[in-house]
Amino acid sequence: MTTRDQSATARLIEQLRKLREQSRLGGGQARIEQQHKRGKLTARERVAKLLDEGTFEELDPFVTHRATEFGLESQKYLGDAVVTGYGKIDGRLVFVFAQDFTVFGGSVSEVVSQKMCKVMDLSMKVGAPIIGLNDSGGARIQEGVDSLAGYGEIFKRNTLASGVVPQISVIMGPAAGGAVYSPALTDFIFMVKGIGQMYITGPDVVKAVTGEEVTHEQLGGVQTHTTKSGVAHFAYDTEEDCLNAVRRLLSFFPSNNTEDPPVYETDDPPDRMDEKLQTIVPDDPVKAYNMKDVILSLMDDDDFMEVQDRFAGNIIVGFGRMNGRTVGVVAQQPEYLAGVLDIDASTKAARFVRFCDCFNIPILTLIDVPGFLPGTSQEYGGIIRHGAKLLFAYAEATVPKVSVLTRKDYGGAYLVMSSKHLRGDINYAWPTAEIAVMGSDGAVNIIYRDAIQQSENPAATRAQLIKEYKEKFANPYVAASRGFIDDVIEPAETRKKVIQAFSMLQNKRDTLPPKKHGNIPL
Ligand code: HXC
Repeated sequence: MTTRDQSATARLIEQLRKLREQSRLGGGQARIEQQHKRGKLTARERVAKLLDEGTFEELDPFVTHRATEFGLESQKYLGDAVVTGYGKIDGRLVFVFAQDFTVFGGSVSEVVSQKMCKVMDLSMKVGAPIIGLNDSGGARIQEGVDSLAGYGEIFKRNTLASGVVPQISVIMGPAAGGAVYSPALTDFIFMVKGIGQMYITGPDVVKAVTGEEVTHEQLGGVQTHTTKSGVAHFAYDTEEDCLNAVRRLLSFFPSNNTEDPPVYETDDPPDRMDEKLQTIVPDDPVKAYNMKDVILSLMDDDDFMEVQDRFAGNIIVGFGRMNGRTVGVVAQQPEYLAGVLDIDASTKAARFVRFCDCFNIPILTLIDVPGFLPGTSQEYGGIIRHGAKLLFAYAEATVPKVSVLTRKDYGGAYLVMSSKHLRGDINYAWPTAEIAVMGSDGAVNIIYRDAIQQSENPAATRAQLIKEYKEKFANPYVAASRGFIDDVIEPAETRKKVIQAFSMLQNKRDTLPPKKHGNIPL
């Protein structure tokens, strides 16, 4: 090589470095400062916090848009409005895109979509999760239908990737208009308080169409989506906490649907007994107790990551580990609406069960359910359709399913909650369990109505009949005599029994009849 050649190469390398630096600046220093003033990190700062240090490999940093209308020809930014690539979380491969608000407000252009689709395609090809950090004004208005087409390509990939690789969305800015449907198609939505907002139409359109006055935050902020709509699964005060939580959630999942979840070392003994569970269920059947205490006692190191903890509090769903292995937990919460199954609880749990089944995560169900919530608001809202989702999800799931019945298990709810009849594998009950078509009071009122009315002392007769009914049915032994309950266990030994059951079921194979797909009652 001549001296001249060397200097030409050096110049080219220098040019590359400059271009790369320009690309790293996105929309420029002034807009980066504006982003910081809004209390937000930049796309690159977010990616750096999400991934293991120094593992990010960026793709397409030199992509630019091809639009010429509305003066766009002279406004080009290297990389356009999204940062894409791959890296590691806890040493495991993940793909990531982070919308860059400093470039056209993070709006989705034709090439932004192409960049996002490239990492989505790669994530499916190699079987690794995809995480989207959303901060965008929606479709690039100047690009018209090209931008809409780009969204279509993204939605299609979200749908095709569903059940193949875990998909996680983090809302760290606006997500407006049809753009919200990409996060909605993914498995879990995280939001950051104060800066994450999602809505189909903004406050101005709402006012014009319905006359309602509402702020951005009231319409689509964290409070709305974690307590009212159930759209978001997790919310955090800061971006850093939120990204750390994404890392934690991924630790429970396999990288794709053909793998099992990772196994972690634990010092928590699998046969650890917990005497306080012996007395956790109160003697008075209408008195509540906190099912979270039971869950924490069963999990390794009292560690449980609850999903949707502020929505439909009558049912608890989330992830933990038992003997180092991931379990998905579904449990009634007697402290909230007595743990009744209503529309929100049914859809929340059904979606969770289906996620676990997609990704080979065994399901532990802890049951204390008085039944489905009666009333016109539930019937008019379609509790039949929504309750059926949970039935469908449990009956369809082929992952190992273990249940523990702590107290009430009445009627249709008995069948729904991982019962033997819906392919539950191992069903345990505590001695405090009651399985019946309905609660004793209601049952006696119906089957002994005439006898009670005709007796000399209806109140005493009724009380006596309730007592007799309870003695007959309000226990686990009738179901155990049929084999519907596999064993009645002491509460203190639950962790050991459940771990043994899951260990026995580890190589479980179960199938569904050949079909294109089922038709879950949506
Ligand atoms: C092009 C956009 C843009 C967009 C924002 N910008 N949204 N450019 N297309 N969709 C630009 C702004 O012009 C501005 O450019 C910069 O991004 C920052 O925006 P600001 O308005 O200054 O920021 P802020 O005050 O924080 O407000 C953010 C915002 C607002 C709430 C997102 O920009 C906004 O309402 N944008 C439009 C949202 C929208 O209606 N999108 C279309 C939705 S319909 P400069 O050069 O000044 O920095 C849709 C359909 C998708 O998305 C359908 C899929 C099926």
